[in-house]
Amino acid sequence: MSKVTPISRRKNDHIRINLEEDVRSGLTTGLERYSFIHEALPEMALNDADLRVSLFGKVVRAPLLISSMTGGTQEAAILNHRLAEAAQEAGIAMGLGSQRAAIEHPELAATFSIARKVAPDALLFANLGAVQLNYGYGITECRRAVDMLEADALILHLNPLQEAVQHNGNTDFDNLAKKIEQTCRLLEVPTIVKEVGWGISERTARLLANCGVAAIDVAGAGGTSWSQVEMHRAPDAFTRSLAATFTEWGIPTAESILNIRRAAPEMPIFASGGLRHGLDIAKCLGLGATLGGMAGMFLKAAAQSTETVLDTIRLLEAQLQVTMFATGARTLADLPAKLRERQSPQMPKA
Ligand SMILES: Cc1cc2nc3c(=O)[nH]c(=O)nc-3n(C[C@H](O)[C@H](O)[C@H](O)COP(=O)(O)O)c2cc1C
Repeated sequence: MSKVTPISRRKNDHIRINLEEDVRSGLTTGLERYSFIHEALPEMALNDADLRVSLFGKVVRAPLLISSMTGGTQEAAILNHRLAEAAQEAGIAMGLGSQRAAIEHPELAATFSIARKVAPDALLFANLGAVQLNYGYGITECRRAVDMLEADALILHLNPLQEAVQHNGNTDFDNLAKKIEQTCRLLEVPTIVKEVGWGISERTARLLANCGVAAIDVAGAGGTSWSQVEMHRAPDAFTRSLAATFTEWGIPTAESILNIRRAAPEMPIFASGGLRHGLDIAKCLGLGATLGGMAGMFLKAAAQSTETVLDTIRLLEAQLQVTMFATGARTLADLPAKLRERQSPQMPKA
């Protein structure tokens, strides 16, 4: 389990850089353009706000997702243990980081499967890079990733820009839609596709809907920027300058949600990318998302303790609940009718 492979070294770099450096996108999420209608007479009690949502045959107690992050190293195993413990206790969903390290080095599987061990009831998502389907992976590897976690679904992540700005990245994204379609058809659990922080266009959403994906996680621009992360681990000045060019790249989270709505109105949407609190999550649900996910924020909490992750979840839930109360929404499905686009004079101070 302690073997140091190039993948596990990269995973430890990712954790360290995300904890220590400023890796925020130069863009905002676009959520500042929206606000809820305040109801002075909401005609409900605070505790009437019902945060539950059902997904893939399970009920989660709040529409929250610990976004896919890590695994493959001892440090990652500790983080996954804390995150999964909190997911189990709070009854929310959790994604694991890319399991490629454990597919190639099965002795690392425990750094991921620890999550299922401590979260037997949680909605857990396996994770692989979709591009690996162009580098020798197929349904066998997808099934191994799912089995490792007894996962409720598989997430395939799309990260063309991240691969392109790193040294020796996997940059052949040709003909990938066909392979994603095959995975959706053959895999026994639902296949979800996500970005990693640059969002989803209308065209990509349409392509993914035609592949038969069960949900799309926008992972939009406005939060963690992987070109910034790659800039910090660049081995030379050329790669550093290449990565630094893309600070302001991507489709903001709010716009990505609307793109998917237009391209595939029935598609379940997970919102993520730069969400800061329960009010941001509520706005995403108001725009049409089913869950709100966070990565960077949960990483920082997990670096402290399970209790810190639980405190973070409790605050997110309270923020969501107060938002629902003050806008008179008893259920999450009521939120879209309560959201409006701000007029420019009401924009928040910079
Ligand atoms: C340390 C770290 C590792 C990550 N690793 C993965 C991964 O292996 N697979 C994946 O799909 N996304 C990965 N992500 C991306 C997140 O799931 C998420 O899409 C992105 O960070 C945007 O969310 P945020 O702004 O809340 O951080 C990672 C994020 C962080 C911070």
